[in-house]
Amino acid sequence: MLPCDTESVLLGNICPLFPKRDPEGHKGTYGRLLMICGSVGMAGACIMAARAALRSGVGLLNIAIPHALYPILAPAVPEAIFTLYDPTEAPGEAVLDAIDKASACLVGCGLGTAPYAAKLVDAVLENAHGTVVLDADALNILAKTPEKLLVPQAPVIITPHPGEMCRLNGRTMAELRADRLQTARVFAQTYRVITVLKGAGTIIAAPSGETRVNTTGNPGMAKGGSGDVLAGITGALCAQNMQPFEAAYSAVCIHGAAGDLCAEALSQHGMLPTDLIEKLPQVFLQIE
Ligand code: APR
Ligand code: MG
Repeated sequence: MLPCDTESVLLGNICPLFPKRDPEGHKGTYGRLLMICGSVGMAGACIMAARAALRSGVGLLNIAIPHALYPILAPAVPEAIFTLYDPTEAPGEAVLDAIDKASACLVGCGLGTAPYAAKLVDAVLENAHGTVVLDADALNILAKTPEKLLVPQAPVIITPHPGEMCRLNGRTMAELRADRLQTARVFAQTYRVITVLKGAGTIIAAPSGETRVNTTGNPGMAKGGSGDVLAGITGALCAQNMQPFEAAYSAVCIHGAAGDLCAEALSQHGMLPTDLIEKLPQVFLQIE
């Protein structure tokens, strides 16, 4: 049963939030997403988030990665431009310039939790102008210092799964399960971040106390990589200047709708997170 003091998110309800693309539009019209994701051993998370972002309408995608990942990422994401960094050094001019130019930043998918990754998270929190989306290892890094979530001038969206949420708020899994809605709402209000508490019936909570519960998706999505796809969609919608709360719940709904198309075509057992990305155009056809 859905909690009674919150609104359900349905695909039909989010369509009006997506204006038609301007016939005169160019890539600058549709935003510039900077992703700081991926590390040696976790390139796939970055690739999935990147491909999901590109399938969600963003004008330009810039991916900041360690030099070592470039030979893997460049052919996997030919549409992207790359900012290469040296993980043995503090974030340099190139990364700071990329943060400065971005209309939104997505940080954390497969980033790892090494000290250099923590410095990259700090650099984004301190310098970003557009919405900041924090997922996975960015949240694991911030679990020790959640008060840093209050640093950015820009809006922040966090996309924790229940384990990441418990690390951030210091509560037990039993406490979270007892009231997922209140868990997300209290965190959103305390740290002034849009909180996307993932799982079946993902909760989206705004700092104002407003909440949504998603209705799309299925257990075929319970596979490593699905979260990276959601992060990419969320980053892309934010980069296109959608209001951050609307972007957060729209991304969750679109991600689940792609999951439902996959389950129909491929079965819940057989579908893969990469299949979600390939179904995004079919979801956007329904939206456009
Ligand atoms: N119904 C609907 N949606 C679901 C369901 C379900 N039963 N199960 C999972 N999902 C969705 C979630 O709502 C979320 O959007 O799939 C996505 C899973 O995201 P994550 O839990 O973040 O998983 P992901 O990051 O892809 O992979 C697991 O997280 O704990 C880390 O290091 C670990 O690499 C691993 C990664
Ligand atoms: Mg995840």
